[in-house]
Amino acid sequence: MIQILPDEAATLDFGARLFPLLRPGMLISLRGDLGAGKTTLVRGCLRAAGHTGNVKSPTYTLVEEYRLEAFTVFHFDLYRLKDPEELEWMGLRDYLSDQSLCFVEWPEQAGDLLPPADLEITLNAAGAGRRLEARAPDGCGRTVLEALAMPPTTRATDPRD
Ligand SMILES: Nc1ncnc2c1ncn2[C@@H]1O[C@H](COP(=O)(O)OP(=O)(O)OP(=O)(O)O)[C@@H](O)[C@H]1O
Ligand SMILES: [Mg+2]
Repeated sequence: MIQILPDEAATLDFGARLFPLLRPGMLISLRGDLGAGKTTLVRGCLRAAGHTGNVKSPTYTLVEEYRLEAFTVFHFDLYRLKDPEELEWMGLRDYLSDQSLCFVEWPEQAGDLLPPADLEITLNAAGAGRRLEARAPDGCGRTVLEALAMPPTTRATDPRD
């Protein structure tokens, strides 16, 4: 699925639409150049989740943790990872549990240490805005894509009404 996001607000908005479709246990990879809008998208998700504090880039910390009411979100930025093995030392496996939702910027830095993502999001510059492409290799990610593709009015309709 492809979407044009003309400005920062559109990226935040996309995050707000995406977040309710995500479940703990999912891994979302975020690819795209420096400044492509990856962190902005995660910020949109966390705001939609009710997080009112800062969402800062985990560039130096590698990971930021957000304890939401229902589950924990881990936001990784692996840009400064020197060696994929650093992830082992960090205890990567403990982060990727069924109890938490993980967003990973610069997943390519992890070599093959990361499991396949449920949803692969790529952001590219498109004029002054961004072009977002979302792919799902299988299962639960596909369901998310299908729900995202539905027009908002359809999604808002409860079949019981
Ligand atoms: N759809 C958009 N159109 C135009 N600007 C955008 C859009 N989405 C985000 N931006 C802007 O892009 C800039 C960089 O965003 P952001 O920090 O999210 O990038 P990033 O991909 O996380 O970069 P990095 O790889 O350095 O972490 C911000 O100033 C943000 O406001
Ligand atoms: Mg970022």
